Amino acid sequence: MDAFVIEGGRQLSGTLRVNGSKNASLPLLACALLTDEPVTLRGVPKLADIANMLRLLAELGCEVGDIGSGKGRELSLRVTDSSASTARYDIVRTMRASICVLGPMLAKRGEVRVALPGGCAIGHRPVDLHLRGLEALGATITIDAGYITATAPSSGRLKGASIFMGGNSGPTVLGTANIMSAACLAEGRTVIESAACEPEIVDVARLLNAMGAKISGAGTPRITVEGVEQLGGADHEVMSDRIEAGTYIMACAATHGEIVLENCPLDSLMAACDHLERVGVRVEPVSEMSERGACDVRVTSERVLKPIEVTTHPHPGFPTDLQAQMMALLCMANGISVVTERIYTERFLHVAELSRMGAHIIRQGPTAVVSGGANGGLVGAPVMASDLRASACLIIAGLSARGTTTVRRVYHLDRGYEKMEESLAALGATIERVDEKELEPEEG
Ligand code: EPU
Repeated sequence: MDAFVIEGGRQLSGTLRVNGSKNASLPLLACALLTDEPVTLRGVPKLADIANMLRLLAELGCEVGDIGSGKGRELSLRVTDSSASTARYDIVRTMRASICVLGPMLAKRGEVRVALPGGCAIGHRPVDLHLRGLEALGATITIDAGYITATAPSSGRLKGASIFMGGNSGPTVLGTANIMSAACLAEGRTVIESAACEPEIVDVARLLNAMGAKISGAGTPRITVEGVEQLGGADHEVMSDRIEAGTYIMACAATHGEIVLENCPLDSLMAACDHLERVGVRVEPVSEMSERGACDVRVTSERVLKPIEVTTHPHPGFPTDLQAQMMALLCMANGISVVTERIYTERFLHVAELSRMGAHIIRQGPTAVVSGGANGGLVGAPVMASDLRASACLIIAGLSARGTTTVRRVYHLDRGYEKMEESLAALGATIERVDEKELEPEEG
């Protein structure tokens, strides 16, 4: 297993390009299962989660070709064998997003078996809303021996319906992607109410429409899909990764650096930038906004950062996927911040690790109170990554801390950030990837 060794205290400076979005790429890749024609995706990031999804698609009879290297990876996907129908537990347990093959497989092949995802480090993550939505489209769902089996009606085709996708914690993102993609091949009209408004859903709808689907309203809480008999191939550029962009903005601010981020999806980062401005971090466009809502931005920050209250919400609110990174930054602010997590109320594994670096954080239920600036800032320490965004939080903390921070188990990070150590080193950070075996044995 790899670890990062970080010498804190170096200001970040320079220019970095934001990669294609992981959370858009995963459902976009699954859309290739809806057609026998080739689908080309440009700008797919090189990540462990993407490699897992490609492995799953290969098992489901989809041939994948790497067709060059422009800005990011270009993949051509084509289904050549439709006989398989099972997403095995082996793959699903390494990547929950495997669930996004459920809708496309059911709609196109009439039957699918997907292992039920198990526990998750960031808390309870049920899939009941996905299943209820598919049932509303006429599917029969059974759960047996750890597998979900979904079968289309005897006509072989799902039937359009009105579906409410809101749960106790708001709408579901991948659930919306699943129902929206299944509805494309259903008979008649589907209306998804309380749909997730995340930009990744807009990106998926954009690809599906290019494949011949008739989707309107993506990005709003009501999505309407007029079913069509078949979908064809398409060529699509993946949106840039708003969470990667937000992470680098916070890393820059934590070191009082100044960077330019190219291809930053500013339009999707309104809530994050609004909160950052209150902290004293400026994110200013330095180029024209593209039709897709991205531009180059300059990130600068005030010398003394201010504490704030931040609560995570579904889009367009402050994203849960930036909560941990924001908490690392607030450890550097001068005063008391309050961080409330409303999507995954247990997503706080980074709190104990930040405390090892000298942070003063009290957690009660879904809220953490951060006393920033305590003891003159964070101090480097050995810490352990527990999930993807918690890893990013610890790296931000390490970049700003005095002394050396060792972050173990960075395989969590590699699931969602492409060669982060190289990007940070190019911006002037002192950071190195090492084999954990090279480190001093842990005490205890
Ligand atoms: N929920 C239900 N029932 C369901 C589905 C979800 O109650 O059937 C609840 C969840 O427990 C959670 C809330 O609804 O409290 C939202 O979950 P959602 O289904 O929207 O999450 P997801 O679609 O599985 C995606 C991202 C996550 C991100 C969430 C929320 C991908 C691959 N994953 O997950 O990303 O946190 O949306 O924005 O798109 C990450 O990248 O680090 C990550 C965890």
